[in-house]
Amino acid sequence: MTRLSGVTPSGHAHLGNYLGAIRRWAREGGPGDLYFVSDLHGMTISYNPSRLRKLARESLAVLLAAGIDQERVFVQSDLVREVGALTWLLECTCSYGEAARMTQFKQKAEGQGMVRLGLLTYPVLMAADILLQNATEVPVGQDQTQHVELARSLARRFNSTYGEVFTVPRAVMAPTAARLMDLSDPTRKMSKSTQDNAGVVFVLDDPDLVRRKITRAVTDTEDRLEYRPSSQPGLANLLEILAACVGRSPAEVADDFSGYGELKTAVADAVIEELRPLRTRALELIDDQHTLDKIREAGAERARERGAHTLTAALRMAGVG
Ligand code: AMP
Ligand code: TRP
Repeated sequence: MTRLSGVTPSGHAHLGNYLGAIRRWAREGGPGDLYFVSDLHGMTISYNPSRLRKLARESLAVLLAAGIDQERVFVQSDLVREVGALTWLLECTCSYGEAARMTQFKQKAEGQGMVRLGLLTYPVLMAADILLQNATEVPVGQDQTQHVELARSLARRFNSTYGEVFTVPRAVMAPTAARLMDLSDPTRKMSKSTQDNAGVVFVLDDPDLVRRKITRAVTDTEDRLEYRPSSQPGLANLLEILAACVGRSPAEVADDFSGYGELKTAVADAVIEELRPLRTRALELIDDQHTLDKIREAGAERARERGAHTLTAALRMAGVG
């Protein structure tokens, strides 16, 4: 079995990325799994090149610092020739209508001055990431399941048109869909690309800043300390964060507190402790350019080799290469 997933360096990794995805990848990762920094996906809307390069390095350091084996990671753009070639084969397998139907495309295209063609074809690049590595399972959040469905359709269509070459992958959802909300607006998902960072805890924030952000979290006017996500979303979010850090359920942790001040202190302490080793290791790696570069090169080489046979076979079957 090969599980594969990616994290797009469109901003600094935050607590939601960590508790909802990266920590799980590190804990549950099997020997055949692959986790990568999808920097090519960070080019689909307006971006800054030097920031993208820096964030890609930082994201790789975060994956490693979270405990993902160095043999399981790579940076997508190091395979740009391979995924680029496969993307073209898959673009010629995908219909315009299929791509234009993607809800994320419709959402992201709205309000953009220039809609980049890459924003439309991005799910096809994602299919190339998946199919190049013969992934069987793709752990993703809800917003990405439609893209994994597209990868399945393209794999099946290519296989039946040109010959069996791709493994048909399936999306796997996190069992308890941890979805952390913004601390200053608990109706909004915690996100890398929010303009105002006051409610977003980044995994590399220093402990004082983490404490400040959590202390200022918006809570509700009711003082009942119970886990009730629909009527007290701010409180529920804090309880979920604490529960995820200590490995208990949100309703259970709620019983330990009688006031918000006490709860916020406990949440801040737990988050700071949870992030401390990750932050220390990631900062070390970011400073140690030589080690990080070597891990990156080895990861790229391994991923390239893994995908070589599938790419060669697919090109041949499609009548090119
Ligand atoms: P993204 O930040 O959208 O590139 O997402 C990378 C991974 O982190 C995906 O697997 C998401 O499901 C997960 N993720 C992103 N935001 C959150 C959040 N607020 N809470 C929980 N998981 C999240
Ligand atoms: N598109 C995913 C996101 O924005 C990241 C990603 C890129 C990915 N390629 C992938 C996830 C392949 C799973 C498999 O979150």
